[in-house]
Amino acid sequence: MINQHYKAMLSGKSVIRELAEYATVRGRKIGYENVFDFSLGNPSVEVPADYNEAVIRRYQTMTSMDLHGYSPSLGNTQVREIVAGSLRRRFGIPYETRHIFMTSGAAGAIAHAVRAVTRPGDVVLTFAPFFPEYVPYVEGAGARLEVVPADTDKFQANIGAFLQMLTPDVQAVLMNTPNNPSGALWSEETLERIGEILRQKQREYGHDIFLISDEPYREIVFDGKKAPYPAAFYDNTLTCYSFSKSLSVPGERIGYVAVHPKATDADILAVIFGQISRGIGHNCPASTAQYGIADCIDQTSDLSVYETNMNLLYETLIDLGFTVTRPGGTFYIFPKCLEEDALIFCDKAKKYDLILVPSDNFGLPGYFRMAYCLDTDKVRRSLPVLRRFVETEYPGTLANNSCMQ
Ligand SMILES: Cc1ncc(COP(=O)(O)O)c(C=O)c1O
Repeated sequence: MINQHYKAMLSGKSVIRELAEYATVRGRKIGYENVFDFSLGNPSVEVPADYNEAVIRRYQTMTSMDLHGYSPSLGNTQVREIVAGSLRRRFGIPYETRHIFMTSGAAGAIAHAVRAVTRPGDVVLTFAPFFPEYVPYVEGAGARLEVVPADTDKFQANIGAFLQMLTPDVQAVLMNTPNNPSGALWSEETLERIGEILRQKQREYGHDIFLISDEPYREIVFDGKKAPYPAAFYDNTLTCYSFSKSLSVPGERIGYVAVHPKATDADILAVIFGQISRGIGHNCPASTAQYGIADCIDQTSDLSVYETNMNLLYETLIDLGFTVTRPGGTFYIFPKCLEEDALIFCDKAKKYDLILVPSDNFGLPGYFRMAYCLDTDKVRRSLPVLRRFVETEYPGTLANNSCMQ
């Protein structure tokens, strides 16, 4: 019999993917260069040359068995040590090989982390706005996702609401900075406060509360800053990382979970992830991708284009009268719509071949997300189109804005 749970999921397919498919179909009709597709977070910058060269070198120099044979189920041991070494150097936390588990991107990392620290029926808290795939990641583990309402002022964590919602049923907190979709970079003060609250609640409730920190955008930070590292503020942290965005390799499906060395059961959590893998058929990422990231562990693609694009869009959006928080990182920006219903707003934008993502599935209605992982020329060409959209559909907005200046 077909599993009705998964069948029911067909009616809740990813809005982002559907919009991206719409953009592709529209592009076939009018030329893809004329579709301003801000839907999908697919990195637009090149993979570093070193990544390709490293993989080619591996193909040329390793034996077939060594390169293509099964890798250990927790990931290649040498690669895990290279990841641990990089985290030690960068963040000063004494990770060792045994704390690292190689995964198929951040998606695989979160799927393992949630299963390892919750039982069916437990609550996982996250913060709005959040990446919509958290719903299947958490529900797939049998747990329940509850969402802390957004702090729409600065898109840091809404600490008051978090305190109220952190009941004894909560076994894990799933967070994401720099954030998709808001682009917000959480400050050290925010992370410090979250750490304090979790320590206090662990004591009060007498059980562990794990922080699952989803960090695929850790390297995409603006204004010369570095992202504060959440695990530095709380020991019971499982850091979920992906090389998808930093090295522009989302199709390679490669990332890891790093268990904080002082977390409860830190020495066996990676082995537990291995057991979870057996059940969900994950069985570690491709060996070539593991070697590729190991050879380029502290490199990134040239990510500067994202900051250029962000500044162009931010300035134009402000000029057009949008309410929008300036992103501290990622390749997303998250303005408030010019009318209440984000679906209607984004539908109107389609008439101008502007593909914008309505925010309802991010847990905060009334906003829209633009993924600006496009080449800068296209972002520049989109600016007059955005202006025409606003001038035509919302003429009052521009007039109000010029009165304010
Ligand atoms: C916030 C966030 N978490 C997790 C993921 C999944 O990353 P990956 O595709 O590397 O598994 C994404 C992908 O866009 C994301 O934006």
